[in-house]
Amino acid sequence: MSERNGLNVPSPLFGLSHLLRLRADQLAFYRSMHALHGDAVSLRLGPWRSWLLFHPDAIEAVLATHAAAFVRFEPVMRVLAQWNGESLLVSEGERWRSRRRKVLPALASRRLPGYGEKIVDRTLAVRDAWEAADAPIIDTDREMVALTLEIAAETLFGEALGDRADAIGRAVAALSDVAFRESTSPLVLPDWLPVPGKTRKRRAIADMDALVTRIVAARLNGPPADRGDLLSMLIEADHADAAAIRNEVMTLLIAGHETSGALISWASDLLARHPGELAAVQAELDRELGNRLPRAADLERMPLLRAVVAEALRLYPPAYALFPRRAIKDVAVGNVAIRKGDLVQIIPFITQRDHRWFEAPDAFRPARFLVSPGWPRYAYFPFGAGPRVCIGQAFGLLEVSLVLATLLQRLSPEPAGAQAIPEAKFSLRPKGGLPQRWRKRARRA
Ligand code: HEM
Repeated sequence: MSERNGLNVPSPLFGLSHLLRLRADQLAFYRSMHALHGDAVSLRLGPWRSWLLFHPDAIEAVLATHAAAFVRFEPVMRVLAQWNGESLLVSEGERWRSRRRKVLPALASRRLPGYGEKIVDRTLAVRDAWEAADAPIIDTDREMVALTLEIAAETLFGEALGDRADAIGRAVAALSDVAFRESTSPLVLPDWLPVPGKTRKRRAIADMDALVTRIVAARLNGPPADRGDLLSMLIEADHADAAAIRNEVMTLLIAGHETSGALISWASDLLARHPGELAAVQAELDRELGNRLPRAADLERMPLLRAVVAEALRLYPPAYALFPRRAIKDVAVGNVAIRKGDLVQIIPFITQRDHRWFEAPDAFRPARFLVSPGWPRYAYFPFGAGPRVCIGQAFGLLEVSLVLATLLQRLSPEPAGAQAIPEAKFSLRPKGGLPQRWRKRARRA
């Protein structure tokens, strides 16, 4: 590992100043810690000694080689468990293994072509509306997060949200905000306090719960059938354990849409600002598809589209920081001695923009993904790595690629505002939205 290790950054007042800086601007805080103190930074955050580890070797050790020496940091998991229950995302040990085994078949590759059709179908409704509106200016981020929520609902339980879409969209956005605020707060106020944030949270949980519980109950009470959606698979795996199914559905619904929606937005922003790359992707789409709609099987013949998605994931990883881990035993990571109880934070947003691994690290260059990687394996990990790698990776990539293919086949995005600034919310989102003009492409021969 690198010799650039800035151990023990002074942390007066139990690291309160670090906590405040972290809450004010996480990305700037991580960037300055890495620039000033190197690849392994130790500082106090409240009662915990915390490590920021930026080097690919250290990342491999924490996520893969010594994964068993760490658990996800419990206070953050407790925040998520308020609505996810004891789901795959928040469990550890044998319970996590068993949950993961049960959810995996729902996301298996043989299921993907069927989900692909639903993804394209939903996107078509958006494309038709934008085409009819004659070069509208759209908040692409807002629309894409709404679209991926619709797609998640349809692929999870085979139901269109219809006129519930706005209410559910608001509830999910509220939970995502609360998750971010509570998990980065030095002090979480008790839920019984009648403060506005708590009321909003309680209402959002109740709304989501009502929707998911009703859908699960209706399916459990109906005739047994494999409807080709995730819920059918979960029912088969969980043998009608309504609470377990509800928890996983809620988790997949929330974990599985904001990240994908944000990634579509970032890819769209990058393409809008790089017309040459946009034209090249559209030429690839024209060549492979002509006028027919894209399908899952087409993507393997679209290396440039896949490279654009990969490069957007490098520059703007929606999961910009992994969930913090806590060491459950002493463990040596390179020349860093992590003690039982220490926290570890790993931040794809910083490592994936390190000039030692990526030439011109801030530049949008999809071509770097068209040749064999010139960077260490653990310098690029937008879906995490090791046993707790994202379970929805294949689904997410399929979704993002098919949505982009469907839109870009007929429409071109153009910037309609200043350069988007990444804001570290629950996912990495364009601050204040992403205004873009979506112009119809000239008709091709
Ligand atoms: C572009 C889209 C996505 C990105 C960038 C992304 C990123 C990630 C990352 C980085 C992790 C690991 C977090 C950590 O180790 O701390 C993760 C875990 C997870 N993701 Fe995703 N994700 C995406 C889409 C999805 C989708 C579509 C689903 C569901 C259908 C999903 C469900 C999950 C679940 C359940 C976990 C927890 C897995 C476990 O703990 O074993 N994600 N995701």
